[in-house]
Amino acid sequence: MEDLIKRAAKDLAASKYAIALTGAGMSTESGIPDFRGPKGVWTTNREAEATAHRRYSLFLQDPRAYWEDMLGLKGAYGTFYEEIRQARPNAGHYALAELESLGILKCVITQNIDGLHEQAGSRRVLEYHGSIRALRCLACGSRFAREEVSLEELPPRCRCGFPLKYDVVHFQEPIPADVIRESEREASRCDLMLICGTSAVVYPFADLPRVARFGSRRPVADIDVVGHRAGVKIVEVNAEETPLTHGGMSDYLIRGKTGEILPALCEALHHSL
Ligand code: APR
Repeated sequence: MEDLIKRAAKDLAASKYAIALTGAGMSTESGIPDFRGPKGVWTTNREAEATAHRRYSLFLQDPRAYWEDMLGLKGAYGTFYEEIRQARPNAGHYALAELESLGILKCVITQNIDGLHEQAGSRRVLEYHGSIRALRCLACGSRFAREEVSLEELPPRCRCGFPLKYDVVHFQEPIPADVIRESEREASRCDLMLICGTSAVVYPFADLPRVARFGSRRPVADIDVVGHRAGVKIVEVNAEETPLTHGGMSDYLIRGKTGEILPALCEALHHSL
């Protein structure tokens, strides 16, 4: 692993525009379970996963029932939200914030809703699946900090009158257009993508490495027209191989814990700068 860390440090030092993509594996060392790892929330509670898949349509049909469900979360998924509220950043989050302060990492695009990247000091963070710390209006796009909104009356309403929901992107819910646009812009301009702690099976997030590699999410056939972005490096940091590893989309996988590898990467980088 040490050689791969040294290789990644060299690649990062040589990069002009590095970004990081992160998933739930970043936060397991902060006590928040992931979804599909051996003790993941979906792995251990299929019912919770099935309920999560129905949540967006529940909001659209009966916003009050959605809120009663979200506030009364029981079982593994319910404790998941509790674990998020108690969680603190781990060494992996601080390492990415340090890479940003060194001017190397330009942006973190995270699937995590726990806000731990910002808590660790990362300033440019795109929350691809939203945040548990905010509420959003689907009608006018307004966002509110969770503590700004009273939950006396359910559902809470936006100033425009439409019911508010958590600013968490549920299954089948479209990713907010502003986040999609920004994320694809970052992916299509990076020359190094560090992919940390994600199983890379949820789309359209899992398409971002393709955008980095080929400059577009279009199917491969078209991409020959768009052209391969030469010199782009895609590096995975994960406890296990993913479809990006198997499919050759990533150049190499540094296998292990993000909370150990990312600080070691920072350390190695200091030696090479
Ligand atoms: N260090 C490195 N990798 C880890 C660690 C760790 N400490 N802990 C777990 N992992 C790995 C797991 O092996 C797995 O490959 O991180 C990955 C986490 O994958 P998932 O649990 O699928 O989480 P994620 O990829 O973020 O899920 C994407 O699915 O349910 C939706 O909206 C939810 O944003 C989430 C999305």
